[in-house]
This record gives sequence, C-alpha cells and structure tokens, in this order.
Amino acid sequence: MDFNQTEEQSLIRSMIREFAQTEVAPKAAELDENERFPVETMQRLAELDLTGMTLPREYGGAGLDYISYAIVIEELSRACASTALILAVHTLAGIPLYQFGTEEQRKKWLPKLVNYELLGAFALTEPGAGTDAGSLQATAVLDQSEYVLNGTKTFITNGAEAGLFIVMALTEQGVGTKGISAFLVEKGTPGLSVGKHERKMGMRGSSTTELVLKNCRIPRENLLGKEGQGFKIAMAALDSGRISIAAQSVGIAQACIDESVNYAKERIQFKRPLAANQAIQWMLAEMETDVNAARLLTYEAAHLKETGAPVSNHSAMAKLFASVIAERCASKAVQIHGGYGYVKDFAVERLYRDARVLQIYEGTSEVQKMVIAGHLLR
Ligand code: CAA
Repeated sequence: MDFNQTEEQSLIRSMIREFAQTEVAPKAAELDENERFPVETMQRLAELDLTGMTLPREYGGAGLDYISYAIVIEELSRACASTALILAVHTLAGIPLYQFGTEEQRKKWLPKLVNYELLGAFALTEPGAGTDAGSLQATAVLDQSEYVLNGTKTFITNGAEAGLFIVMALTEQGVGTKGISAFLVEKGTPGLSVGKHERKMGMRGSSTTELVLKNCRIPRENLLGKEGQGFKIAMAALDSGRISIAAQSVGIAQACIDESVNYAKERIQFKRPLAANQAIQWMLAEMETDVNAARLLTYEAAHLKETGAPVSNHSAMAKLFASVIAERCASKAVQIHGGYGYVKDFAVERLYRDARVLQIYEGTSEVQKMVIAGHLLR
C-alpha cells in the first residue's frame, strides 16, 4: 500500500474540505437542533458529483476510488456527521445495485441515484432482527408477475426522504439466511409507507424511520440478484459500508482534535492557556495518535476494496477500532472543554452524541469482533 495520496486524492481532499468547512459546518448545529434534513447541502453534493462517487462513469458516476470516497466521508463528518451519514447510506444503496443488478436495473436506477433524483436507503433491520439480521420476518411472495411484500423494517436511515429502498425479505421459510432475497422498492409504490420517526441521541440531521410494507406489490424484475441471495448481498454491501462508518469515525475524531486544540490554546485558567498543562497535552497527543491509527486502518480497508481483495475482515477491524476511538476522542474533547463541553454552545457536545452510534450501526462492535474472530479461527 502506498502511503502517499495520489494527486487526484489530494485535490479531492482540498475540494471537499473547503466545501465542508464553508458550506456544511456552519449548518451542523442547526440541523442537529431542529432534526432537519440538509436538503440544500445534498443538492450541492449532487452538483459536485459526489452522490455517485464510487459508481462507474458509464452510469453517470464519478468513478472515484475507495480511498477518495473515505476522504470525502471523513471531511464531511469533520464538518457535520449527519450530512456524511446521509451520503454514506445513499452510497451503500448503490453498491449492491451495481454489484448484483441486471443491466436493465442498473440503467434504470443508477443514473437516478447518481444525479440525486432518488435518495437511496438500505432496509435490512427489523424490530426482531438487529444483530441477528438473518432472522428477519418480512416476506416476499411471488404472485404471477409480481412479488407481494409484507413486514416492518426499522432503523432505516434516510427512511423519510429516500426514493429507492434495497429491501431484504424472505422468499422461502425454514432455510435460514438462504431464504432471504433482496428487492428494489421505489417510494410511492402502493403498500409502502414510512412509519415511526425515531428521535435520536445524535445524527439528528438524518432521518431514521420505520418502513412498513403492507401487500406492497412490485414487478418481478425488481428482484436484485437471485432468490435466496439476499443475505449475501446485504453482507457484501455492509463490507463496503463499514469502511464509510470507519471514515465517519475518523472525521468525527478529527473534529474533536480541531475543537480541543483551539479551545486549549484560547482558554485561560491559572493565568495561562489550558494547552500549557501537560495533562491537556497528553490527552491531545493520545487523540492524535488514535486518529492516525484509525485513518491508516480505514485507508487500508479502502485500498483492499479498490483492489478487489476480500475486505470483510479489514472493514470490520477499521470500523471496530475507528468507532471506539471516535467516542474516546469525543470524551476527551468534552473533558478538555470542562463545563463548556457539556453545553450546546460548543460543538464537542454534539460530537460526543454523534460518536456514540458509530459502535452500533452497520453492525455493533460485537458483530465486528464476530467477523474478525471468524476470519482468525476458520
Ligand atoms: N459476504 C458474503 N457472504 C457472507 C458474508 C459476507 N461478508 N458474511 C456472511 N456471508 C454468508 C456466509 O458465508 C453464509 O453463507 P453459507 O450459508 O452459504 O455458508 C451466510 O452468509 C450466513 O453467514 P453466517 O452464518 O455467518 O450468518 P449469521 O446469521 O451467523 O450472521 C453476522 C453473521 C455477522 C452476525 C451478521 O448477521 C451481521 O453482520 N449482523 C449485523 C447486521 C448489521 O450490520 N446490520 C446493520 C444494518 S444496516 C445499517 O445500519 C445501515 C444504516 O442505516 C446506517
């Protein structure tokens, strides 16, 4: 692995950093406060060709490599984690469509995801099937030329705004994960509705909702991949998705360093800046070291993904480590800010709340350990 960024990756970093710091960061607190979806920022991301970043140019995508993608998610998260999450899950929906879709499916939907005519979402989780994703209960029954979908999906990021859902449902009972299939379901399909809106601790600028399927009829052509392939499609998508959550973690942790360094230089106690105290310096040094290690693991996973090598193990390690350090950095950042870190006037209060879910979504830390141990012991 080459530790130097390519010229293209450096250009993308400076472009997205400039955009994120000038247009995204100033809105982060307001999105959080009002639980507001960043309509205008998502439109700007589409104009910047970032809503189809990893998709090939033949479908209108930017054809960027995965390290560039990680850089974009990292820099966006550094400014506003909710905005980065919306883009990451939108990208997550495009990955299986490209990887497992027929040419007709790709031509029909990928350009719409790329130009942001449709926002993507990924509907795997159910009330009774979280970590044990393979135990889902939603069903899809073939009725002549249509599948009829029934069930409830939960914790669906982008649920309120998405135009295209990748939905996992059972086409065969009693055969475990081999009975799960994946489907493409468009917003507006009769029988598809958005249920409960979750009120969250963090990531409040992104919507998280239930998705209710009641005799929802979709054309047979909307089956993604083959019947029974749905669990593997979902797991393969999450292998890539977990790299973006690692990148999100790095961005949030970096923001914690940025805020802490500034504050430690400005805040005067005992007639000198906080930064003059070794206790503060040590915390900053530990944060910096943690973030660098997490960034390297993340870029390594992204690099492997780019080469086409198996990535489950490395994306799990990157997500496991980076999500833990994000919370650790956020905790230290709050500590450095003292009482001011506990109030909403300072960004670290939001960063602390946003960081918590990184160890939960797209597979808990415990799931990542199952994946890593599974590779060690096979
Ligand atoms: N790629 C391809 N196939 C895979 C795979 C992968 N990464 N991982 C497993 N499989 C295959 C296995 O090879 C196996 O196939 P065979 O039956 O042919 O041998 C099959 O899938 C079943 O595998 P397991 O027996 O390992 O499955 P399991 O039921 O024990 O579950 C698990 C394993 C790792 C716990 C999995 O259920 C899991 O990852 N759970 C967490 C789910 C998750 O991440 N949810 C996040 C929801 S999405 C989200 O959060 C997005 C958002 O909105 C932010």
